[in-house]
Amino acid sequence: MSLFGKYQDSESIFKNEIALDPNFTPRGKIEFRENENQYIADCIKPLLQRRNGKNLVIFGPPGIGKTLACIKVKEELEEAETIGEISVFYINLWKKNTQHKIILELCDQLDYKFTQNKSSEELLQIVKQKINQNSAVFIFDEADKAESLELLYQLAEDVYRKTMILIANDRSWIYKLEPRLKSRLMPDSLEFKPYKKEEIISILKSRIQLAFNQRMVQQQALESIASKTEDAVDLRLGLFLLRESAFIAESSSSKQITQEHVEKALSKVSDFKRPIELDQDEEEIMKIVNKNPNKTTTEIFTIYQSNNQENKSQRTFLRKINNLEKANLIKLEEVQGIQGRSYKVKKLSEF
Ligand SMILES: Nc1ncnc2c1ncn2[C@@H]1O[C@H](COP(=O)(O)OP(=O)(O)OP(=O)(O)O)[C@@H](O)[C@H]1O
Ligand SMILES: [Mg+2]
Repeated sequence: MSLFGKYQDSESIFKNEIALDPNFTPRGKIEFRENENQYIADCIKPLLQRRNGKNLVIFGPPGIGKTLACIKVKEELEEAETIGEISVFYINLWKKNTQHKIILELCDQLDYKFTQNKSSEELLQIVKQKINQNSAVFIFDEADKAESLELLYQLAEDVYRKTMILIANDRSWIYKLEPRLKSRLMPDSLEFKPYKKEEIISILKSRIQLAFNQRMVQQQALESIASKTEDAVDLRLGLFLLRESAFIAESSSSKQITQEHVEKALSKVSDFKRPIELDQDEEEIMKIVNKNPNKTTTEIFTIYQSNNQENKSQRTFLRKINNLEKANLIKLEEVQGIQGRSYKVKKLSEF
């Protein structure tokens, strides 16, 4: 039999595998985050009366619905009859990691297309002027990973009616906010707490209904996925284990996911870490490292610079290299040469 023959006729366990993707946004209300969602909505409400909104820092560990809750608020605002009165911007500051990229993203979300041949400064003026025609909600996700919050300061200063929501992992990040920005925002803070096991079970059950054909998951299997998820705190682990166990069940032609399948899936994630997200520069550097094994940091930097039209600073490059090392994607090996010490970049794992 061919390698794939047995899969051709058999029916898949999955009805909609996408429902288990960490980036999938479920429809309707978000379970167990009603209070948090209401809190966020209350910060925005003054904008509906053309007054200034409240600013907010949301914090909590990875994978507990901070982004999801904000995306929901954005969707609901857009659906409500406020279109034209409130513009809602969502930007992930880890991904859009320079002032220019954030401004271009704002232009894009404002549907402003004439960005070519304009400087950041010019574009920012246009953006501010457009935003000030309405009220604005800014959701800045992964704000603690941003390289600079200078642009936020400018928006805090020059946008009249707004709610700025900053999402971070750690409460202490608020204390580290630059006093200039903090005194302009005077943000409230809202903590997202980890889900309890029963809540995790309920959330996973909703996903199971979307993802699988029938009631596919044995109760004991679900319980053990939920326990592991509770230990790890991150719901992404639960979603991953469900999908992985389903693959294992499918490949052994089982119609149900059992404890045995879950255990096999668990053996793959004994040391669960959240999926690594790289910013554009880090991705680019990893690509160069993949293609050029055993080069030194200086050599990699030269290739990186020659691939880019805009000037890349060595300082930023070295910071990115450090990030990649911390994420265990590369290892730096010290070598002594005629010209002194340098570091070879070794790839440790795929990204
Ligand atoms: N209450 C919930 N109902 C349904 N799905 C949820 C719920 N909370 C979280 N999720 C799902 O869990 C995953 C992680 O949630 P989310 O991306 O919002 O985490 P986060 O708190 O923003 O984490 P990070 O700090 O790592 O960015 C997503 O797939 C999300 O859809
Ligand atoms: Mg998030």
